[in-house]
Amino acid sequence: MRLKLAIIAGDGIGGDIVAEALKVMGAVGERFNHKFDFSFYLMGGQAIDTMGTPLPESTLLGCRDAQAVLLGAVGGEKWDHLKGDQRPEKGLLDLRSGLGLFCNLRPALLYEELAQACPLKEHIIAGGLDLMVVRELTGGIYFGPKGRSGEEMSAWDTMLYSEQEVERIAVKAFELAMKRNKRLTSVDKANVLESSRLWREVVNRVAKRYDEVTLNHMYVDNAAMQLVRNPKQFDVIVTSNMFGDILSDEASMITGSIGMLPSASLGEGNFGLYEPIHGSAPDIAGQDRANPLATILSVAMLLRHSFDLEEEALAVEQAVKEVLKDGWRTEDIMSSGQKRVGTKEMGNLVAQAISGKKE
Ligand code: IPM
Ligand code: MG
Repeated sequence: MRLKLAIIAGDGIGGDIVAEALKVMGAVGERFNHKFDFSFYLMGGQAIDTMGTPLPESTLLGCRDAQAVLLGAVGGEKWDHLKGDQRPEKGLLDLRSGLGLFCNLRPALLYEELAQACPLKEHIIAGGLDLMVVRELTGGIYFGPKGRSGEEMSAWDTMLYSEQEVERIAVKAFELAMKRNKRLTSVDKANVLESSRLWREVVNRVAKRYDEVTLNHMYVDNAAMQLVRNPKQFDVIVTSNMFGDILSDEASMITGSIGMLPSASLGEGNFGLYEPIHGSAPDIAGQDRANPLATILSVAMLLRHSFDLEEEALAVEQAVKEVLKDGWRTEDIMSSGQKRVGTKEMGNLVAQAISGKKE
């Protein structure tokens, strides 16, 4: 199979981690006889510095032309002084929306090998943690009308949702719940927000098409608390853009492996954008210190969701588990008795595990 990918390394450690993901794709290509066709594009701070805009037209067009996009990370202090619509993050938001990627999947998975890193008490996570946050990604308060007004300066953002926007993300979440443990929690703030009341109505309507899925509704403040009190009650969580942003950070942290977690941003078809959940960590960029595993696991999601290559995706995930089991750790997940490696060596180890050629 030929896989046409757009690659955006981005800022900070983006280049370091994406290089390792490319290595891993090389190993997948060799073992399973696929040809990866990569085109490289700029976005975020790098694009601001060289082209004067966080999302150059050529990047958007190049991504549209590909079957999937792999992204490292964007942003950094260097660009923090810029106005909202000129910041690196604006490139990411415009890319998500320009590519129609309304559905963001953020798995929070506790790796058995890393269980010590989990900040929760042992009895709370006994037996493991595996939940999925489905975040609406191109609507809500991120994209509603915003501005500043008045003599006495004030500013406003609008949380706006249409029925159609809620319906399509709800369908994605129910479909996913059907493939998992058939439990879905819809998170909103329907006791206060009108947009949440609409959200709840639409989710209830969609639920009628999925009798096998057990649906419950939860207010976002309670959900934030329940995630640390008893995370195992959750299987799939579906929520709006901003609530999903917040809850997915929390969900990733309770697994203790924020440097390990991938994500997928999807639209209606097979096209998707894949990126690690973590940020661009400029302080350790270019020093062979970053953990490339979240980006490597994003490759697994890419193979699965955009190309339906389940066996290949599992091979990548299996390789990562094997490397962890053998005791190899980057510094962020290091614990006593384990063997510390840098970014490149970690990439080599995973690639070798895929090829079956261990050192
Ligand atoms: C994320 C990030 C982004 C978001 C920022 C960088 C715009 O926090 O992907 O979670 O808020 O969506
Ligand atoms: Mg976030």
